[in-house]
Amino acid sequence: MKRIIIAIDGPASSGKSTTAMLLAKKMSYVYIDTGAMYRTCALKAYREGILLSDTAAIDRMLEQLSIGIEYRESGNRILMNGEDVSDAIREEHISRLASDISALGAVRKKMVELQREMGKKGGVILDGRDIGTVVFPQAEAKFFLLASPEERATRRWKELQAKGLKSSFDEVLKDMILRDKNDSTRALAPLIPASDAIIIDTTSLSIGEQVEVLYRHVLKCIE
Ligand code: DC
Repeated sequence: MKRIIIAIDGPASSGKSTTAMLLAKKMSYVYIDTGAMYRTCALKAYREGILLSDTAAIDRMLEQLSIGIEYRESGNRILMNGEDVSDAIREEHISRLASDISALGAVRKKMVELQREMGKKGGVILDGRDIGTVVFPQAEAKFFLLASPEERATRRWKELQAKGLKSSFDEVLKDMILRDKNDSTRALAPLIPASDAIIIDTTSLSIGEQVEVLYRHVLKCIE
């Protein structure tokens, strides 16, 4: 069976990563979480105290940065110069910084190159904001997942609660709306559906239903 490239884009907490991960498992494909890569850039800049306006420091940081993915059955781990930063990159202040740093041309150039290299052989599912529009416009299957901001904030809030992190629902909703606006209005590779993407509203779908909907479309692309 042909091993294709599957692109899943959409705003924060639209169900992309869980759906992509489960679909990859079901199809024995490799899952690449491109948001985690931008988060890793943000973490490195944060730890080094780099201002996003300091382009020379950002260039140096990118030269020294190596991002690795360790593929595991229980969920991929993300490595920053060999250090497992999978949990550190999920903190709220890193989410905001990731959204800001991902607007920089030098950062996007390096991440897109890495993503193209990782995915070029096919048999991959990448999720992000610009996979179907910029990274792999030739992807055989493209999806754009949507859900109402309230539903997405509820999902995010529940995740934070489960981790024992205290934050108010209103704060989570406000942050999410701000990040969506940031990601959709930037000049480079903004969050928009590719013209040939299949748009799926996940507001009232369970994760299992989302995976099935995507899988049925993917089968049509492979046949
Ligand atoms: O998917 P996520 O929430 O982990 O992504 C974190 C940030 O990274 C997001 O706010 C925008 C940026 N991003 C991007 O610009 N392009 C991608 N392909 C993936 C993420």
